[in-house]
Formats: sequence, structure tokens, C-alpha cells
Amino acid sequence: MCGIIGILGKSPVAASIVDGLKRLEYRGYDSAGVATLEPTGLARRRAVGKLKNLDALLQLSPLGGHAGIGHTRWATHGKPSEANAHPHAAGPVAVVHNGIIENFRDLRAELSAEGINFEGETDTELVAHLVNREIRGGAEPIAAVEATLKRLEGAFALAFLFEGRNDLMIGARRGSPLAVGYGDGEMYLGSDAMALAPFTNRIAYLDEGDWVVLNRAGATVRDEAGKIVKRQVQTSLASATMVEKGSYRHFMAKEIHEQPDVLSHALSRYLDMAQGTVRLPDALPWDFADVSRVTLTACGTGYIAALVARYWFETYARLPVDIDIASEFRYREAPLDPKSIALVVSQSGETADTLAALRYCQANGVRVGSVVNVSTSTIARESDIAFPMVAGPEIGVASTKAFTCSLAVLACLAIAAGRKRGVLSADEERRLVGELMRVPRLVAEALNTEPKIERIAKVLTKASDVLYLGRGTNYAIALEGALKLKEISYIHAEGYAAGELKHGPIALIDETMPVVVVAPKDRWFEKTVSNMQEVQARGGRIILLTDADGAAHAGESEAVLVMPTADPIAAPFVHAIPVQLLSYHAAVMMGTDVDQPRNLAKSVTVE
Ligand code: F6R
Repeated sequence: MCGIIGILGKSPVAASIVDGLKRLEYRGYDSAGVATLEPTGLARRRAVGKLKNLDALLQLSPLGGHAGIGHTRWATHGKPSEANAHPHAAGPVAVVHNGIIENFRDLRAELSAEGINFEGETDTELVAHLVNREIRGGAEPIAAVEATLKRLEGAFALAFLFEGRNDLMIGARRGSPLAVGYGDGEMYLGSDAMALAPFTNRIAYLDEGDWVVLNRAGATVRDEAGKIVKRQVQTSLASATMVEKGSYRHFMAKEIHEQPDVLSHALSRYLDMAQGTVRLPDALPWDFADVSRVTLTACGTGYIAALVARYWFETYARLPVDIDIASEFRYREAPLDPKSIALVVSQSGETADTLAALRYCQANGVRVGSVVNVSTSTIARESDIAFPMVAGPEIGVASTKAFTCSLAVLACLAIAAGRKRGVLSADEERRLVGELMRVPRLVAEALNTEPKIERIAKVLTKASDVLYLGRGTNYAIALEGALKLKEISYIHAEGYAAGELKHGPIALIDETMPVVVVAPKDRWFEKTVSNMQEVQARGGRIILLTDADGAAHAGESEAVLVMPTADPIAAPFVHAIPVQLLSYHAAVMMGTDVDQPRNLAKSVTVE
């Protein structure tokens, strides 16, 4: 998750760009850079490390241009170095980028075959070269960017500047956020409204797939199909310290929609995308090759993330897993093997039961890793090693982005364990890493189904009870769906392993009971379809969450939501989206307090 800023100004912009970048430093700070249009042409200043290094460089070697773009980087492709720092340039084009270009290897090979040399290893640099290739072929900058965007796969935000075009800047948003700021004879681009707060409070948020052409008089926004569209200019309340809702009605909606972006950030922290490998801290307090067992424990949504991870550790690392809810685990008096490790998952890092479970493990000689969002929390500090989920502040009480970001961290840990234990080959690791790199885009595609999800959510609001079913990792998603629904809409819901249906819950089925089935076409699919038939034979009404292949083979359902097709390691991320959105829209229709549901607290520091 990098930070982007762009200014078409009336006076020198470099200092303002650095000022805006300071507000984006939370998104990454392993290098930073600025490009401006000088009388001599495009000029860049880039520095490794925090922004103060860029600031110092600009003192020594100032820039005076009135149009510029800037970037603070969190490395994805390629190590932090000046050559890999943004802005990247090729010919008259400079570009800054946040996110992941998934097909960068293919595109880079295509350009290399044409004799193009790359300065660094980033995926961003190839974007500059692609645009430059179009310009060399005679295209105007706008057409060159439009053609390039069509070639890019992934979830990203981009800002472009062109030598010789002092009154032009182009931005694009797919998966990662980008806001347009309207000033007085000046225009801005920024990763969020907070970055633009020193300059303007008049902000328009780009929608998914939008791209925007700016000049000092205003902005023209086009959608993915190239049609000119209007995006409402709003008055932002952003200040330096506030986390705000942007264009969303609730923090929960904002956090659901942030997932492509924060997942890019989380994954880029734990993956070396250029090498196709998992990259964990060097000083792990254990060697996965010698670990006998993993104990997974957490509360609520953290526990459900751990449940997904159980399948991954067992499948990809062949590591035995013991998993329990922290409030149970802490009192179970479980005998622990000192050769085992424990992983605890906690958004807040303060949950009392999870902390007690951590202490129990350490008291029994077991090393503990924590997957946490708040890096300064007690759990992060007391664990032997903390793996930040870097989801950014989660304000909505119902956890959404922290769920998928903890999945990202846990998937990386499971793959690393599999590699270390000799279960996964280098090729298998590369394949799984490739599948994880696709996750932000797949999640963005899943978010595009929101209008249909909203319609289906209406069915849930009429029910007093809802059953969620799934097998394998889909069982965990069923549990998460039921938890989300009861938390914020107050509709009673249960998540069940579909195979357990006939051992009890089938007695509840009648025509008043919606049954949400999570069943992409995976190895559990046929079995779950049999369970669906058992539900339908008793008049139950099925809402099926599946993929295209599953929709073609599942038979009739009352409603079907088709999610993007995903590899088994990516599917839980994708299917988390419809269960989050179903509960969100059901709650909005029910008129509940979505962000602060009754009786709940964001941080549960008591037993
Ligand atoms: C569910 C939810 C809670 C938390 C649980 C643990 O949406 O938010 O179930 O997951 O209270 O909290 P953390 O992750 O902070 O330990």
C-alpha cells in the first residue's frame, strides 16, 4: 500500500507534494520520490528511507516545477532502492503507482523482447514504458494511457505526468483508492482526502475502474468503458488526525471496500512478488522444519480466520493443528509440546482471552506468534514475534478488512512452513504466491457484485433465522457470514458445516428459513450440492454463493451470487466479500447502528 499525490499548481509544488506525502507515510515509507515539470523537462528526486531523506535531497537539489507527482513506497516488486523508488519514467512519461500489476512478468517479457531495458525491478516501471510505447507510436498522452490501462491486470491506482504538457495529469483507479481534489485554479490527486487536506476540502472519489484527466480548470472522469461520468464533489472533513468515512455512509462499508487496497499492502509485506516467494522476517523465533504442531487460538472473527488457516497449515505444510476459541483454550489445561508453536490472531491486540491464551502457551514453553493489526498492542508486545496484518485502522465494530488481512498473513505463514518442511516445492510456492497476488483483484471483482448482493440482502431482513452452510474453508466463511449477520442486523444466524446438517439443524428447515450456502466448485462442491438438495426437499430457500462453474452445476436455487473463480487458497478471501456485504446491507435495511451495534465493543479487554 503506497501513497500517491499529484498537484497541478500555480507555484512550485515539490514542498506541497512532500507535505501531502507525510500524511500518507502510514501507507509505506521505504522510499519516496517526486517528479516535476521543469523548464528543462521532466525532473525527478528519489530517496531510499523515510520522507525526511527526500526532504533533505530536495533542500540540496530543489525543484521549481508547478506540476508534479509524488510517492511514498511500500516495496512490492523489488527491494527498497533509488532505482525502484517512484516516480518511474520512460521518455516523456512519469508515473507513480499503488497496488499490484499482476501480469507484470508477461508484460515485462513482452517489452524486454522489444529491446526495452529496465532501470529497476518494479512493476510500475513497465507501466511508464507501455505508455511511452503508445506515444512513440503516435498516440496522444490520453489515448496512450487509455490503451495501457486495457493491458493491465490487478488492483492499482496510478498517476501520470507528461513532459511538455504542463497542464495535464492523468489518474486511474482499479481496486486501490484515488481521490480528486478541486482547488482554486489548482487540481490535485491523492490516495486519500487526508493527504489533500492542506490544499483543499473539495474532494471527488473515483469509482472502481474510473480514470481521470486533470487540468488546472477541472477534471474529466471516465468509467472503465471510456464513458464520461460525473463523480460528486463533496466537502471533506479530513484533518491530519482523523480517520474519515470518505464517500461511504458507514465505516464498515468503507472498510469492506478498502480490502483490495489493504490486501495489496498486507501481501506485499509478506511476499517477494518479483521472486514469487514468501518473505518472512529473518529472525523467526522458530524453524518451521522442527515444529511439531501449531496451536491456533483467537476470539470471534480472529478465530474464524484461524479456522481457515487450519486447512492451509494442514494442506500446504502437513503440520498438525490444534485450534480452539481462546476463552476455552485458556482453561482447557491443554498439554503443550515445547516443540510446538502457537499463533494468536487479534485485530485489537488487546482481547483478554486471547492474551491469556498467549500467556498460557508461553508459560508452557511454547513460542507464540501474533497476527495483529495494532502493532503497539499488548498482544503484539508480549508475543515472541508479531506479524502485523497492516489493515489500517478498523473503526467499524464488525471486523471485515482485518479478517481478510489476517488471512493474507496466515496464508503466507502456511506457505513458508510448507516450503521449510519440504512439503511445497519452489514451483508450488511460486504458484501459490501467484494466486495470492491475484487476491486484491479478485476481491475488487467480488465487490462489483454489490448491487445484486444488496437485492438479496432484502430476503434476509424478512427472516427471523438464517442458516449458513459450507464445507472446508467454506465452512469457516459460513461461520463468518452468520457472525456478521447477527452482530449488525440482530437477525439470528447459525453457521454449520454442511455435513452436520442432517445431524440436527435440518429439523429447522422450512419455507421461512433462508439458507446461505457457500460452495464454489471445489473439492467439497458435490457433497455440498447434496446438502442443498436435502434443504430444498424440505422447502428451504437457498441463497447460493458460488463461482461460474458452481452456478452451472448446482441446480436451481432461489438466488445465486456468482463470485470470480479463484484457486482454493484465494477462495476464502473472495467469498468473505458477499457474506460481509449481505450482512451490511441487511443491517442498513433494518436501520440498525451498523458501525456501533448494540452491546458490542471493538476491543474486548475483559473476560
Ligand atoms: C466480529 C468481531 C469480533 C472480534 C473479537 C476479537 O466482527 O469483530 O468477534 O473478532 O472480539 O477481537 P480481536 O480481533 O480484536 O481480538
